[in-house]
Amino acid sequence: MRNSTPWWIRVPLLFFTIFALMEYFIDSGDQPAFIAYPMTQYFLLLVLLLLIAIELILKSIENVMFQTLSEEAKARYLASKSKRWEWTWGRELYQKLLGSRPIEEEGEIILDHDYDGIKELDNRLPPWWIYLFYITIAFGAVYLVRFHILNDYDQAEEYQQEMVAARMAIEEYKKTAKDLVDVNTVELLTESSDLKAGEAIFSGNCAVCHMIDGGGGIGPNLTDDYWVLGGGIRNIFQTISEGGRAGKGMVAWKTNLKPLEMAQVASYIMTLHGTTPANPKAPEGEIWMDPNAPVDEVEVQVDSTGVEVLMETDTPNPLEGE
Ligand code: HEC
Repeated sequence: MRNSTPWWIRVPLLFFTIFALMEYFIDSGDQPAFIAYPMTQYFLLLVLLLLIAIELILKSIENVMFQTLSEEAKARYLASKSKRWEWTWGRELYQKLLGSRPIEEEGEIILDHDYDGIKELDNRLPPWWIYLFYITIAFGAVYLVRFHILNDYDQAEEYQQEMVAARMAIEEYKKTAKDLVDVNTVELLTESSDLKAGEAIFSGNCAVCHMIDGGGGIGPNLTDDYWVLGGGIRNIFQTISEGGRAGKGMVAWKTNLKPLEMAQVASYIMTLHGTTPANPKAPEGEIWMDPNAPVDEVEVQVDSTGVEVLMETDTPNPLEGE
């Protein structure tokens, strides 16, 4: 029976051809099909099992036919098989790399000392080991020229590059994992889809007490500069999540709203700042100023009535436009 390629080449070759064809024909976006559709993994497993089954059947047919041969034909068949290129080539390569002398020739390399019956052979160093040694020398030479003579790049640059890549990966991740925000990580969302969602949450849950335009009713006015519990995205998020002072009517929304939803509605509230509602409620609380806002100029005026501190900031409010 003739089969030119051995099974350990044939099976992987067929398997990966089918794999590649599958990836080519199944449109799975930017993910490979076998990840996007876990079903395909079963398909591949089936293909693999089928290929193995076919090989096993071929083997047993070969075996049955072999038994029907005469003794002389059997011998010829075995001889031709052991002469196949991959066998001879593999065996020779293995012998070469090992570099050991056959047992019959050991007499030539035996050393003439004898430790309580333990004798030593003067084998050559195994060629695989020597080649490895040469490779390390070549590597060292290339390394020396590249990094110490041509100064390709150094550890600091490599570190910077990896940090940039990591930061980009984090940004990417944040886009898909907005729901992981908490009061420490919450940031003002500016995408219109987020603000739209925030508006919907506000009109559905909050407008009864804060009015649809944020002008205030049972709850305080959300459009002015005065805040009972502190302004800015973090304080607002905190208030929505944990609720207001006991007995005032502002409940903790964290049981009803997801973190992302709280961030969206908090960002939406920030957009209400400075608008003019129909029936604004009188200010409650105190003027809130962002302690982290960069201050460019501080002017202190002292007169008989008291001290006035004027601070000028250069940072435009992202919600008001420049
Ligand atoms: C049952 C009425 C009620 C509802 C509904 C309500 N609030 Fe309030 N809200 C209040 C009251 C009352 C306060 C004042 C709490 C205090 O003084 O401690 C308040 C305070 C706040 C504050 C802080 C205002 C400040 O001056 O510090 C924010 C922000 C806020 N609410 C957002 C929301 C959001 C967002 C929703 C919807 C998810 C909502 N509220 C739903 C009654 C309500």
